[in-house]
Amino acid sequence: MATENPLREGLISERQPEPCTLVIFGASGDLTKRKLVPALFTLFTEKLLPESFAIVGFARKAMTDDAFRAEMKEACLKFARHKPTDAAWAVFAKGLFYQAGEYDTPASYSALEERLVRIDAERGVKGNRIFYLSTPPSNFPITIAQLGAAGLVGRVPRPECFRRVIIEKPFGTDLGTAQQLNRDVLAVLDEKSVYRIDHYLGKETVQNLMVLRFANGLFEPLWNSRYVEHVQITGAESIGIEGRGGYFEQAGILRDMVQNHLFQVLAITAMEPPVSMNADDLRDEKVKVLKALRPIPDGRFDEFVIRGQYRAGTIAGRRQVDYQEETGVTKGSARETYVALKLFIDNWRWAGVPFYLRSAKAMPKKVTEVALVFREAPLRLFGKSASQNQLPNVLAIRIQPDEGVSLRFGAKVPGNTMDIQPVNMEFRYGTSFGNEPPEAYERLLLDCWHGDQALFTRGDEVEASWKWISRVHRAWEASSAGVHSYEAGTWGPAEADRLLFRDGHQWRRP
Ligand code: BG6
Repeated sequence: MATENPLREGLISERQPEPCTLVIFGASGDLTKRKLVPALFTLFTEKLLPESFAIVGFARKAMTDDAFRAEMKEACLKFARHKPTDAAWAVFAKGLFYQAGEYDTPASYSALEERLVRIDAERGVKGNRIFYLSTPPSNFPITIAQLGAAGLVGRVPRPECFRRVIIEKPFGTDLGTAQQLNRDVLAVLDEKSVYRIDHYLGKETVQNLMVLRFANGLFEPLWNSRYVEHVQITGAESIGIEGRGGYFEQAGILRDMVQNHLFQVLAITAMEPPVSMNADDLRDEKVKVLKALRPIPDGRFDEFVIRGQYRAGTIAGRRQVDYQEETGVTKGSARETYVALKLFIDNWRWAGVPFYLRSAKAMPKKVTEVALVFREAPLRLFGKSASQNQLPNVLAIRIQPDEGVSLRFGAKVPGNTMDIQPVNMEFRYGTSFGNEPPEAYERLLLDCWHGDQALFTRGDEVEASWKWISRVHRAWEASSAGVHSYEAGTWGPAEADRLLFRDGHQWRRP
């Protein structure tokens, strides 16, 4: 019989959401339309929101409640998992409001507070509030400071209601700015009220990585340097930068995808079993992994980091222009759209095991996966010729698309000889469960509503990951040499293949 932790908190499905108003700063932005309100509407139709709820959009542009409602209906028709019927929309829309204001003007926050008090009374919300910062990141510090100055949030918890703040990515652009933002945030809020979003943590399959590891007895005994030869984590996208040249020129793929999403996946793959699934127990383990990342020795970056930039090419029949020709890109830019890393986690479990990470735009297809490549059997019992087609065992966790898990092992080819061929044992979400997985934002909004920080990143975690990433940026800033070209629609520069060849490995072709 498995031992249970008697102090385990109730699962989400066992908990009741409390009445609350969610204020979205940056309500005229894309995220509100594409993700936030559609996710909230889906939660509403699944009866996962409380009956007393309100959603207030806040942005600079003047708009009436009705205009905001109409815009959001259109967005939900397009993007929500559950499309609104007129009847369902009529009920949901009663809880939608809009408030125009300036992010840096105290009067806007007092007007917001007055409005929220009226909405509290009208909707029976009892003063509980979540503030969602979905503005450009340059507005985060001022918005947080103004929220604090207006008394809308504070460091001391209120006994009668809760106040929480969700902060969108990016959380800083390097170690220094992330530390400064943490200081700004923690000057006004207690860490327990801060919810830093990384939408990869809301993905079903990322959560399933924890379930696979810690709800099964089979895998964990093998999950270490004794059995695992190396690990590959891929976050490939087939799209280019899609008109986001201005942003991407500042960010690059290392900031855009690796510092947050891929490092979170890495941390969950490599962490020790937490003592419980409580937010801090879980995040303590992730922080330990990030702190154990071996810094790349000075002067040896080329042995550990390969960066690339896409040239024109064809991706699944679609023409992709050269990165240099994208709108908003400065001619001669050395900004990376591809990065491959070789990492070591200097702890007891992973000593000596290379973790290869790659992330890129303009790849042949979209795929995110974690693959553990196992060591060979200690002895070749079946002779050289039988084993010539044999490949190492691989456990591949497919995060998206075709969500699932596959295990590759050697099997005897039917016949009178002893030939061995690799075969796959597959689990697919679609086949096993049939239903569509929820959107990451649904899960994350709901968790924040419940006050569960487990799937949100903590301040020290973000800083630990920036610490490693910022060293790479500093080395790159010293020289723009070494940005390799790759044709859009290929798997990246040849130098990235050599990163693995040198160790006797090769990238998977997922
Ligand atoms: C975002 C990045 O955080 O994640 C985008 O800014 C990227 O550049 C996106 O395309 C990928 O998310 P997903 O969920 O489509 O894998």
